[in-house]
Parts: sequence; C-alpha cells; structure tokens
Amino acid sequence: MCGIIAGIKKGNIVQDLIGCLKKLEYRGYDSAGLACFENNRIERYRSVGRVSELEKIVDTKYSNIGIAHTRWATHGKVNELNAHPHLSIKDGFSVCVIHNGIIENYKELKATLIKYGYSFESQTDSEVLAHLLHLERKKFSSLKEALNSVRKKLIGAYALVAICDKDPNTISGTKSSSSLVLGIDRGSHQYFLSSDPNSLSGISTHIVFIEELELICLNGSEFTIYDENLNKINRDLTKLDFASDKISRGEYASFMQKEIHEQPNAIAMTLENFFDENSLTPILFGNDAPKIFEEVEQIIIIACGTSYHAGLVAKYWIEELAKVHVSVEIASEFRYRKSVLKNKTLMIGISQSGETADTLAALKLARKLGLEWIFGICNVQESTLIRICNLSFITRAGLEIGVASTKAFTTQLASLFVFALTLAKTKNHINTQNERNFLKQLRHLPNAVASILNGEMSVKNWIKYFESKQNVLFLGRGIHYPIAMEGALKLKEISYIHAEAYAAGELKHGPLALIDESMPIIAIAPNDDLVNKLKNNLEEVKARGGRLFIIADQGFELREDSCTKIITLGDHAGFLSPILHVIPLQLLAYHVANSKGNDVDKPRNLAKSVTVE
Ligand code: M6R
Repeated sequence: MCGIIAGIKKGNIVQDLIGCLKKLEYRGYDSAGLACFENNRIERYRSVGRVSELEKIVDTKYSNIGIAHTRWATHGKVNELNAHPHLSIKDGFSVCVIHNGIIENYKELKATLIKYGYSFESQTDSEVLAHLLHLERKKFSSLKEALNSVRKKLIGAYALVAICDKDPNTISGTKSSSSLVLGIDRGSHQYFLSSDPNSLSGISTHIVFIEELELICLNGSEFTIYDENLNKINRDLTKLDFASDKISRGEYASFMQKEIHEQPNAIAMTLENFFDENSLTPILFGNDAPKIFEEVEQIIIIACGTSYHAGLVAKYWIEELAKVHVSVEIASEFRYRKSVLKNKTLMIGISQSGETADTLAALKLARKLGLEWIFGICNVQESTLIRICNLSFITRAGLEIGVASTKAFTTQLASLFVFALTLAKTKNHINTQNERNFLKQLRHLPNAVASILNGEMSVKNWIKYFESKQNVLFLGRGIHYPIAMEGALKLKEISYIHAEAYAAGELKHGPLALIDESMPIIAIAPNDDLVNKLKNNLEEVKARGGRLFIIADQGFELREDSCTKIITLGDHAGFLSPILHVIPLQLLAYHVANSKGNDVDKPRNLAKSVTVE
C-alpha cells in the first residue's frame, strides 16, 4: 500500500529518499513521486511504475529537505496526475503533501475548496489535503498550526506529511489510524518521517512512533512532537535494530523463494523460548496472561487473508487441546457486525504486519464494546497491533517482503500451537508426559520443514500440469481444510489462476459438477483420522475424470496412475501436520507463477500491508 518518506539533513537528501522509497516497494504500489526545495521553491517530480523511473528523473537534483511517496491507487486511476505529492499553488505560495489512508469526507471538502477558487487536477481524495492546507496556511502563521486546523476537518484514516515554501526549513506531519514514525540519526543530523520503520534501516539509529492525532515538526536539526492542543510532548527514543543489509534477496531469484526457504530458521527462532522442558508458561505472552489463561471461557480470533487461515487452523488445536470454544472471523466482517461479546472472552488478532486496517479496527471495536483481554500475534514488535494489545507474542520470521505470505504463516501457526498447548496446560488438560512429547515434536519441526523443502524438485515436476490452467480446486478435510484454503490463496494471488478450496465432504453438495478432465484437483491427504473419508471423496473425483494431485503422508494407499500424481511427505506429523503440508503448496504456487513470468514478489493489484479499508 502507499508509502511515505520525508526527511531533512545537512547534505543532499534526494538519494536517501529514493533509497527509502525502494525499501517501501515491497508494500505494493503503482506510481511514485518526490518534492523538494530547490532555490527556496518547491519542485515536484512524479512517475508511473517503478521507483527506478522516478530515480532517473531526480538523479541530478540537490536538496536538503524533501517528501516522497509510493502510491497504491484507491481513488482514481494509475497515472501521473493522481500520483503524490499533491501540490497547491495559489496566491504566491505553494503547499505540497503526501498522504496514506482514505479521506472519507473528501467530496464535501472538495466542493468547499472549489468555492474558494482551488482547482483540482487529480481524481484522488488526497489532493483536497494540499488545497485545504494551503487555505489554512493563509489563516495561520505556521505550517504546524495550519496542519492542526486541517486535521480537525478530516474524517477518515491518514498519515499526512507536508511542506510549504512559506516555511522553508520545515516538514510537518500528523496521523490518525495510519502509521507514521520518526527516524533520527543525531550523529549525521538527519531526521525522517516514514510510514514504515523498515524503510529507516541504515539512515536512522532511533525511532519514535507518532501517536494518534499528534503532530510532528522537523525543523532544521530539531524535531518537536505536539499533542492535539499543540502542547509540546517529550517522547522516549527507541533504538532501531534493523541491519541495513537485511533487505536482500541473497542467492534467491525472488524474496518469496528466499522466504519459503527461510522457514526452518524462522520457525526455530520463533520457538526458541519453548524448546526446554517446562517452558510452556503463560508469562511469555504477557504479565496478565496467567490470570487470563485460567479464566478465559471463549476465544474469538480476528484476522485477514493468510493470517485468517492461521486462525482457522488454530481453532482445531485450541478446541481439541485446551477445550475452549473458538470462533474465527474475517476482520472486515466482524468490524461491521453487531456481535454479542461475552465476559471472559479473549480476542486474538493475528497479523504479519500489525498494520492491517480491518484487523486493527476490529480489535479497537472489541475494546470499545468492553473486551479487556486482547492478544496480538504479530511479526513486527513496533507495530500498531502490538501497541493496542495487552497480551502479545512476536513471531520471529524476520522481515517478509514478498506480498504472498509464507514464513509469516508458518511462524504464526507455530506460535498458535504453543499458545494452544500453554492454555491446555494452564487448564490442566495436558499432563507432563504430553507436554514433553509436544515439545519434542516442536524441536523437530524446523528439520521436518527443511526436509520437505529438500523435495522441491518433485513440486517443480508438477508445474507443467498447472501453468496453462484457468481453474484449480483444492480439497482438504478437518484441520487441513484451512491449509487447502491457504494453498488456493497462494496460487491465485501470484499465478493469477482462479483457485478455490473446498472441504472435501462438501464436494457432492455442488462443486462436483465442475469436475472433468480439464480440472486439476489438489488434495491435502495426511494420514489422519479422516484419510479414509478423504479417499472416498477422491474416488468420486476420479470416477468423473478429474485429475488428482495429492500431497500425502507415508502409507497413503492410493497409487499413482495417468490421472493421479502423488507427492509423499514423511510420516504423519500429528498436530503439526498442517505446518508441513502447506510447504509444497507454497512451492507449487511460487514455481507456477514464476514459470508464467509473473512478478511473484509484487503481484498485480496487491499490497503487502493493507493499511486502508
Ligand atoms: O499483515 P497481515 O497478516 O494482517 O495481512 C493480512 C493479509 O492481507 C495477508 O495475509 C494477505 O492475504 C497475503 N497477501 C497473503 O499471502
């Protein structure tokens, strides 16, 4: 989604801004732009497509103050006029803004601004911000005061950063429901504002998260944070510990491929604290966790996309092991439903980024409705999600750049399994021997994932059966039904092949009508209690000429033939089986998309972090 970077330094900042925009590329975007002071005038440059196009345009520019943006279209087409920064020039001075989020009342504001004589060149909601700020700057004596006045007129979500040529050494920003972070390197006298702390690696030593409705001013080599009444606030600096070399593909052709192969290590890192005997203790989830785990009577899991699938898997684990009822909901649905929340409910928000607008809104709603226990599972310690939760667990997958989530998913699953075990232990549903056995299985998990990755070649042999297909059906049963859903999501988002997942028992209630020799069916077939039921479902498919592609465990009884291909993993891994069975599905989606020539890291129309509704 859109990315913001702005900065001030003693030397030329233009190349720093371009470098940061490149670090924001992973979030997904379709155009980019930059504005900076040149000879006390604001100059603006924009281009459609990659940041490298913008880089060519600004290559020789010199400025020590600038703002830059990557746009992911929401209002208005992908074109240069709709790209940020948006500029308002009138009455002898200019104001220039970059914006993430959506201004819901932009039509009303636009109508008023037109009456004041402002003319609009774009179809965006963001352009109103430039003209509105220009109008307010005429009334107030500083950019800061003007921005504060603008803020009060806005409905919607925003991180907003601005410059004005009446305030030549100043950058001002504010935010509501959208992320904005200050990066500081006092040694090099450089200060940045960004929507994503990852972009600040290598140029900032410390960061400060700007909180709701606060206002930040960078002025020369100083920064000041104000509350909504423009009182100055002192904030602690957090040391930034990203190494600048972390964002590299290394030997891999894409970030997604690298991230798939990082899973053994990512899982090991995430589980590091749980590899010892007696390590299942609620305190690792937060100081209040022991009490909450004892008292909780039901759980609601909220998430989107792949994180939602992790929640669906966790429902099986938590209900079977800890005997606590779990419902799992898509955040964008929950936030607009009139739900009834009982006391003693724990709400769990799962999000790789911790910035997904729908997930955050759903959790905030739950808080507003009186839920006190909110638990976040997230891959980013500094995220908004973690800051609004009272219990938390950080997956240690490392930065995930590929839009298609892989290592974040398997580390979420590993974390959720540990949570289910810890809850079960607190509620006396597992004994010491069970606990030891589960911990032993967890210790082996990174190796088990690595050995499936070693079998990548057998997945590659399937590419030819899928690359020319329009439709693929995924089947699973029980805890592997959400894994089938995740396989379908992976395939559709990067290969652009239409894919759907069904619980195999549902086949004869409708989708069986789709089966013929042109329809590949991928079945997740672990050797669990449901394997014989699944085999019956697969026989129904075979009888109708369907082409079967089966991810099985050792001991699976169907044999390969001209219409049936089987990849066999190791022995059935019990509760941890979903974490293993998803790996071949990730590899398949990756290789099929790659062989079609798609940009697997940045699939069309998608963004890494969905920070608007
Ligand atoms: O950052 P989050 O985990 O909250 O993101 C949720 C979804 O947007 C995300 O999982 C999305 O579905 C991925 N592209 C899936 O690969």
